[in-house]
Amino acid sequence: MWEYTDKVLDLFYNPKNQGTLEDNGETGIKISTGEVGSIACGDALRLHLKIEEESDKILDARFQTFGCTSAIASSEALVELVKGLSLDDALKVTNKEIADYLGGLPEAKMHCSVMGQEALEAAIYNYRGIELDVHEDDDEGALICSCFGITESKIRRVVLENKLTSAEDVTNYVKAGGGCGSCLATIDDIIESVQKEATTAKVVTNTYNPVNTTGELTPRPLTNVQKIALIQKVLDEEVRPILIADGGDVELYDVDGDIIKVLLQGACGSCSSSTATLKIAIEARLRDRINPNIVVQSVGSLIKN
Ligand code: FES
Repeated sequence: MWEYTDKVLDLFYNPKNQGTLEDNGETGIKISTGEVGSIACGDALRLHLKIEEESDKILDARFQTFGCTSAIASSEALVELVKGLSLDDALKVTNKEIADYLGGLPEAKMHCSVMGQEALEAAIYNYRGIELDVHEDDDEGALICSCFGITESKIRRVVLENKLTSAEDVTNYVKAGGGCGSCLATIDDIIESVQKEATTAKVVTNTYNPVNTTGELTPRPLTNVQKIALIQKVLDEEVRPILIADGGDVELYDVDGDIIKVLLQGACGSCSSSTATLKIAIEARLRDRINPNIVVQSVGSLIKN
């Protein structure tokens, strides 16, 4: 028997946001849908967003889910959290915030909060015409758990964002490893690799080595301002020229720890392979130059179709 908080039980017994949103042809309003999970895996969530085009605001949201108490409560929490937000702000909502809104979830049910965050991302990317998963040519896109269709990049992201330390944690958050179990050893390797990168990143990001007036290196912690300046420098000198030559561009939007949010512009923003562009042209370059733990996220394009 799972231990649920009062908030989880209240939202489960009294859901207010279940259902769909129809496109009634209202001027300036768009309905966008994001879907994650599969009924075969035991959980599926479809999120509908009502978006005001001029302001990019989420006016309303509804969900349909095939899932347990936690899935319903997480979906309710998600809707409550994103109503009234701009799309850019909604993209900042994390699975941890969903779980926190509920006063916590049993560890084995954390995947419900992850599913909510992914459905939100899918709905917003769908609205912006950005393909969510372009992993085929990506080394980190290798399929690790065939039972649940989970890729390496997804495992790395959830380990990094939630500071997970064991394969059991990963199973709780994204289900990988919870079937035949043959991928558990690989998941352990991925966790070890993420932890190693995090340690290296700490050394790199905490040690800024400017030359002082006497010509000696003076190691000192990298401040946030220095870190942002360094990211901007790499973007300006090594990334933007490549994108501009291809008819696109990129703008630094926000830096939150190792998560770097960017706005893709021009051809990059409307290109169906923009996620691949992010991974290959931007994330890899920033990891190489600044911190191997960096994750780049797009908050959409400045030019809408
Ligand atoms: S391959 Fe991951 S549980 Fe079966």
